[in-house]
Amino acid sequence: MRGLRGKTAFLTGAGGGIGRATAIRLAQEGMQVWISDRDGNVLEDAVAEAASLGLALHAIQADSTRESEVRDAVQAAFDASGRLDLLVNNAGGSLHTPYRFMDESDDDWARVMNLNLMGAVWACRAALPLMQRGGAGRIVNYGSKAGRFGSFIAGPNYAAAKGAMAALTRQLAMEYGPSGITVNCICPGVVLTPRTSGLWAERRTPEERERIVSEIPLRRHAGVDDIAGAVAFLASDDAAFITGISLDINGGQAMA
Ligand SMILES: NC(=O)c1ccc[n+]([C@@H]2O[C@H](COP(=O)([O-])OP(=O)(O)OC[C@H]3O[C@@H](n4cnc5c(N)ncnc54)[C@H](O)[C@@H]3O)[C@@H](O)[C@H]2O)c1
Repeated sequence: MRGLRGKTAFLTGAGGGIGRATAIRLAQEGMQVWISDRDGNVLEDAVAEAASLGLALHAIQADSTRESEVRDAVQAAFDASGRLDLLVNNAGGSLHTPYRFMDESDDDWARVMNLNLMGAVWACRAALPLMQRGGAGRIVNYGSKAGRFGSFIAGPNYAAAKGAMAALTRQLAMEYGPSGITVNCICPGVVLTPRTSGLWAERRTPEERERIVSEIPLRRHAGVDDIAGAVAFLASDDAAFITGISLDINGGQAMA
């Protein structure tokens, strides 16, 4: 990818899952990569996995549901590297809250909104002034197929939070385009990680699972590398004129 070498990326919730794979991909592209996660053990594992590939990841423990921790982590990455070129708002998930609307409590809504939406709001609030100072920047937000077309495994709270991520993306793209900052949203379908594999098995029968995959034009779910590649592209010079989009990464399962 063009234009990534030597630049600085900061990713939230990137000790494991898609975020870790994305962090490693960005490091392979020559970026200086900072990862935050609330879990210190997975951060250590991520750093070790990267090291086994000859790559460096810098880890900062931070809970994305706490504004002060998010703000301090973004600032620490900036202070250490002297720049911030890319923010990846990856931290998120449905927190194993119920699938059905009437089974979801206010607490289920608040926790999912807080992690998925407010975590990103707080990271953007910390990162945007730093990017403006540098005259350029990229933000990639994690939406979901759930927020655009509905989900087979996560409930209305998660779908609403991910729809809000796409709306936040468009509004920030309008406001910060004149500052040379692009803001885009990626919307994966099911990506098989340990967490989603469990939900997928729990919330769909084997027959439903087989039928759903058989109806995806590319006949499989995404792997983490499918998502990491899209983030690298959106961060690269080749995506310089792309902003405000919601990019579906779902093998054609749902198309707009
Ligand atoms: N996996 C999928 O099928 C899928 C599909 C569409 C969108 N997404 C989105 O992609 C992103 C990553 O998903 P994933 O499946 O890799 O997630 P995951 O559940 O595997 O978690 C990734 C990391 O987030 C960390 N984390 C959890 N809560 C945190 C918090 N409060 N603060 C900081 N870190 C926290 C975890 O420790 C973990 O290391 C999420 O925003 C998710 O909603 C995932």
